Amino acid sequence: MIGNVIVGQSGGPTAVINSSLAGVYQTAKERGAQKVYGMLHGIKGLIDGLYVDLDTKIKTDMDIDLLKRTPSSFLGSCRYKLPEVTEDEEVYEKIFRQLNNLDVKYFFYIGGNDSMDTIKKLSDYAETKGSDIRFIGVPKTIDNDLAITDHTPGFGSAAKFIASTTKEIIRDGLVYDYPTISIVEIMGRNAGWLTAAAALARGEDCEGVDLIYLPEKVFDIDHFIDKVSDLAGQNRSLVIALSEGIKVADGRYVFELADHVDVVDAFGHKQLSGSAKFLSDKIAAELGVHTRDIEFSTLQRCAAHMSSRVDITEAYNVGGAAVKAAFEGDTGKVVVLKRISDDPYMCITEIADVHKIANIEKKVPLEWITDDDYVTQDMINYIHPLIQAELSPIMVDGLPRHLNINRDVH
Ligand code: F6P
Repeated sequence: MIGNVIVGQSGGPTAVINSSLAGVYQTAKERGAQKVYGMLHGIKGLIDGLYVDLDTKIKTDMDIDLLKRTPSSFLGSCRYKLPEVTEDEEVYEKIFRQLNNLDVKYFFYIGGNDSMDTIKKLSDYAETKGSDIRFIGVPKTIDNDLAITDHTPGFGSAAKFIASTTKEIIRDGLVYDYPTISIVEIMGRNAGWLTAAAALARGEDCEGVDLIYLPEKVFDIDHFIDKVSDLAGQNRSLVIALSEGIKVADGRYVFELADHVDVVDAFGHKQLSGSAKFLSDKIAAELGVHTRDIEFSTLQRCAAHMSSRVDITEAYNVGGAAVKAAFEGDTGKVVVLKRISDDPYMCITEIADVHKIANIEKKVPLEWITDDDYVTQDMINYIHPLIQAELSPIMVDGLPRHLNINRDVH
């Protein structure tokens, strides 16, 4: 059964999510798919009838090479939660009508745990209606918080950016002959995997960060201020890494202790930002030292010039494995990575049930967080292989070249 294919991207982008798109597109073509469509802005766009024939956007081998090196979601993204069928079956009817009109037999969604909710709901619906369309999830998220998989494509490149940039911040942060405190805020929501990557900055040419705070442990502000005061009192400059998702004992995020406006997405996630600013202002006020807050924000998930080649390759492979699985009959599944060995590093792809992945957040094990506010060697060993090697950007006129879906920007 070779019919048409549709692929979408959803949730927060990564530096390598387009490598997965390239993997889906090329593998589907190689295996005989007639058309490969791309949803524009994920399932939300499809509901509104927005899609493209990818042959009109990806025309040459060079386009594939550029796509793999282009950050963010080529097709556009969305944060849209499908209603339960019992709440609004019309949405499902609309989606399946679109898919049938396009003669789509294979549906791929590249996303994190929220996006896998879409695969779960659509594959469940297809089953109840006896539809032969197959639905497969392709994992991605810089947060690395997907269950079952060893790690998620996108994480390694964000980790590489974080470790490299943190090294540079440390050089700058230790420059004066009086203490300065730099606080770096890192994404990852309620999981600390990405913040832990700051530990990789430490090495024979770098002192490393002094303290690391992950959301898996309650953040004690008094303890933090005492610790910083102690270390700064020894005339030390400090670089501190903390997660955007750290919370105090009563369950509030640290940034919520400052004046802020709550912005919440369709999955009920608050926009997490401002903890480093809040804490650096507090330290400056209470200790009278020079502070700087550095929010990596968008930079950490779009820095394609600092991507890990391991990550780009795995992102491509999970796209290809998804097509293979669907073409061989799977549906309601997600491709996962299984680590076979650390040294030499080796990962294979497997297939897991989407019901065991959708909407579940995988947190850092508490035994990988130390009592002196750092992470263990096990954590460093886990991340280390994922940031290895580079795929040089294709430079044009001094800048990395990207593939833009609006090919003729000018
Ligand atoms: O889930 C990926 C992620 O980048 C999180 O680390 C971050 O909290 C969130 O997305 C930000 O989302 P948005 O781009 O919608 O503000």
